[in-house]
Amino acid sequence: MKVLIAGGTGFIGTYLCRELSERGHDVTAMSRSPGGADLPDGVETLAGDVSDADSIDGAADGMDAVVNLVSLSPLFRPAGGNEMHDRVHRRGTENLLGEAEGADVDCFLQMSGLGADSGGSTDFLRAKGRAEEAVRDGDVPHVIFRPSVVFGDGGEFVSFTKEMKRLFAPALPVYPLPGGGRTPFQPIWVGDLVPILADALEEERHLGELYHVGGPDVLTLREIADMVYESEGKSVRVVGLPMGLARVGLTVLGTLGFKLGPDQYRSLRMNHTTPDNDLDAFGRTEADLTTFADYLGLSGRRDATSPAGTPA
Ligand SMILES: NC(=O)c1ccc[n+]([C@@H]2O[C@H](COP(=O)([O-])OP(=O)(O)OC[C@H]3O[C@@H](n4cnc5c(N)ncnc54)[C@H](OP(=O)(O)O)[C@@H]3O)[C@@H](O)[C@H]2O)c1
Repeated sequence: MKVLIAGGTGFIGTYLCRELSERGHDVTAMSRSPGGADLPDGVETLAGDVSDADSIDGAADGMDAVVNLVSLSPLFRPAGGNEMHDRVHRRGTENLLGEAEGADVDCFLQMSGLGADSGGSTDFLRAKGRAEEAVRDGDVPHVIFRPSVVFGDGGEFVSFTKEMKRLFAPALPVYPLPGGGRTPFQPIWVGDLVPILADALEEERHLGELYHVGGPDVLTLREIADMVYESEGKSVRVVGLPMGLARVGLTVLGTLGFKLGPDQYRSLRMNHTTPDNDLDAFGRTEADLTTFADYLGLSGRRDATSPAGTPA
């Protein structure tokens, strides 16, 4: 199979290029600046900006499948402002779909996110929702994924938790988290996610489906922060930052040019767990997956599902 991966040089994209390549597929990774990406031998690269239709003209020609992993992170405010989400996620998806349709591909895999909704509460969620609508309403056979947060080497999830501390309490042994860090997440390891994506491309029965996928544990932001610091042999005391104060703080930081703002505050309030983990569609169960504690090397030292700071 010949596969074009838009955003193939990013975090998930790099792992998916490797997985598909090892399965014997011909992979082309496309992004605005693909030079220097850490991709396996044999993976081709292509320069193109999905928000500029002319720049990706013909990109899908000769392909059997197109994967859309192009991303602007919801965790940080994009350069150019939050309106960039519509340009890159909604319009970019429409442009890429146009190429996929012209090339008559067999499958368009759209990476979306939990809570994607054209009427959603942030620019990111609205753009992701409109992008999903474009995929569903189009004529290209497709499959859509809404993963919870993804962790792994090269990802930004762990560094994001540290960024929060750096912003709110750089020199103190406390870690103020919005709302006491009660927002729940269901982190999935990138090494567990990409084989599922590869299966979806290879197995026709997934066409037309929307899958929610998450990891084996539901962890609050507070538990995640505790685990990250524990894995570094440090201990911080997590304290609650009232949501109202966090909103004001992030709004002020946003106006001062920091990469966090009101949309990121709304994102921190959102439930990041799957309504129903669709792993069974791929013959997997949560017990098969890597826990966040496993990844951080904490297993054995503590139980990932026990309250933060409570030894197993
Ligand atoms: N990581 C997570 O925790 C997570 C969770 C749920 C859903 N997702 C979704 O999974 C997908 C991949 O996420 P990721 O974490 O791998 O993202 P990432 O590491 O930020 O990678 C983004 C990729 O998109 C490319 N890109 C950005 N703007 C582009 C444009 N205008 N035209 C073409 N390429 C562009 C980037 O390369 P250049 O900068 O060179 O263009 C890069 O290759 C996204 O749809 C994301 O929303 C991720």
